[in-house]
Amino acid sequence: MSDGGTSRASVFERGGGRKTAEGLSYLTGFGNEHASEAVPGALPEGRNSPQRAPLGLYAEQLSGTAFTEPRAHNRRSWLYRIRPSAAHPAFTRTGNGAIRTAPFAEAVPDPNRLRWNPLPEPPAGTDFLAGLWTLGGNGDATQRTGMAVHLYHANASMERVFSDADGELLIVPERGGLLLHTEFGRLHVEPGHVALIPRGVRFRVELLDESARGYVCENYGAPFRLPDLGPIGANGLANPRDFRAPVAAYEDVEGPVEVVNKFCGNLWTATYDHSPLDVVAWHGNHVPYTYDLRRFNVIGTISYDHPDPSVFTVLTSPSDTPGLAGVDFVVFAPRWLVGEDTFRPPYFHRNVMSEYMGLIEGAYDAKAEGFVPGGGSLHNMMSAHGPDRETFDRASAAELKPQKLDDGLAFMFETRWPVTLTPQAADADHLQRRYDDVWQGLQRHFRG
Ligand SMILES: [Fe+2]
Repeated sequence: MSDGGTSRASVFERGGGRKTAEGLSYLTGFGNEHASEAVPGALPEGRNSPQRAPLGLYAEQLSGTAFTEPRAHNRRSWLYRIRPSAAHPAFTRTGNGAIRTAPFAEAVPDPNRLRWNPLPEPPAGTDFLAGLWTLGGNGDATQRTGMAVHLYHANASMERVFSDADGELLIVPERGGLLLHTEFGRLHVEPGHVALIPRGVRFRVELLDESARGYVCENYGAPFRLPDLGPIGANGLANPRDFRAPVAAYEDVEGPVEVVNKFCGNLWTATYDHSPLDVVAWHGNHVPYTYDLRRFNVIGTISYDHPDPSVFTVLTSPSDTPGLAGVDFVVFAPRWLVGEDTFRPPYFHRNVMSEYMGLIEGAYDAKAEGFVPGGGSLHNMMSAHGPDRETFDRASAAELKPQKLDDGLAFMFETRWPVTLTPQAADADHLQRRYDDVWQGLQRHFRG
C-alpha cells in the first residue's frame, strides 16, 4: 500500500513524470469504502478521530454530501495529514482567466446548432488552470445545480495547487497524458480515459507530453454515480471494478506553494508555507478516480432500431426528479452495428435535454466531416439535429451487413437545462459559422 512521499524537486524532474505515472498502483471499484496509507501505521484502526492520530498526523473529515444524506449516496473521506487544511492564510481574489461560472447571463441563450473547432494554441507557460476556457453551462453554482462545459489547452505543468468548491470536475483528455497529483495520491490519465476530481479536493496537473488538450464537465449538482441498470441486469455499461482510485501518496514540502480555490465562480489565491497535498493516509468514498472508456460494455440492439443513447451512460448526476439527470456523461465507444432494416446512425431528433458533444479520436458515425477531435458541438433544448446529408444518403443506401464501428471515441455531456454560452464561446474565432450547412440539401423523397 505504501507509495512513499515525494519532494517537490523530484516531482518536477524532467522526464520523470511518465515513468512515475506508468508505475502507479491503484485501488479498484466505484464508491467503495477505500482505505490507504503511504506509511505503515498512519491509518487509525477502529476509529476515525483518536485522541492522538498515528505518527503525529492531524485527522480531518472531507464531506462531499450533507452528513445526513442516505447512506447509499453519502460521500465523505477521512484524511490523516501533516497539517490540517485549516492551517492556511487568508485567500484574496485573483483573476478568473477564461473560467466562467453559472448562472450564465452574459449572453442570450441560443437555439441554433453550434459547432467549434479545437481551442487555439495557448501562450507558452499555460498550465491546466490557466488553460481552462468555459464554453457555457446552466444552473447556479451557489445553488449546487447545473453544470459547466469547459475546454482546456495547456503546455506547462502546474506549479500551484487548485481546488473547486463549486463542483466536481470530470476531465476528458483528448490530447496529452496527465499525471494528477491529488490529496489522495496520484492518478495517470491518457486520452481515452477520464478522471474525476471530487468537489473540494486539491490537486495539480503535471503534463506528460508537450501539450495537453481536452474537455471538462464541472458538475455543480449531486456527485456522479453509476446509472441503475434496470432490465439490463447486474452487469454492463461501466462496470464498477474498472474504476481506479489512487493509493495514498504525499508531498512533504516546506516552502511557498500557491493554492487557488474556485469559490462561487471566482478564483481566490493564498500562498501556503507547505504543500497541502500532505495526506499520508486516508479512508472513505469521496475520492478521485479514473476510468478507461474502452472498458465500457456497450449495450445495443441485436434485432432492429437502436436504443436511445441513454444506454451509453457512463456516469449520471441525478436531480430531484427520478430519471431526470442534472447531467449525464455518455460515451460512443467502439461497437458492432447489426440492426436489420434499420437506419443505423443516430436518428433525427429533437430533445428536451441539451447535448454538448466532443470527440476524443477518430470520427463520429453521424457526422461525415467537420466534427473533429478537440472540437465540439452544442445541440440545445429542442434543436433539430441528426445525421448530416452525406451520412443520411450513405446509411440509407448501405447494405446492412454486420459492421464494426471501431475508429472513433465520442462523448456527450447531456444536461437537463439549456446551455447558455459565454460571450467568448459565442464570438470565438474557432466557432464554425456555417454548421447549419451540413443539413442543407437533404432531398425531398416523398412519393405521395
Ligand atoms: Fe442528439
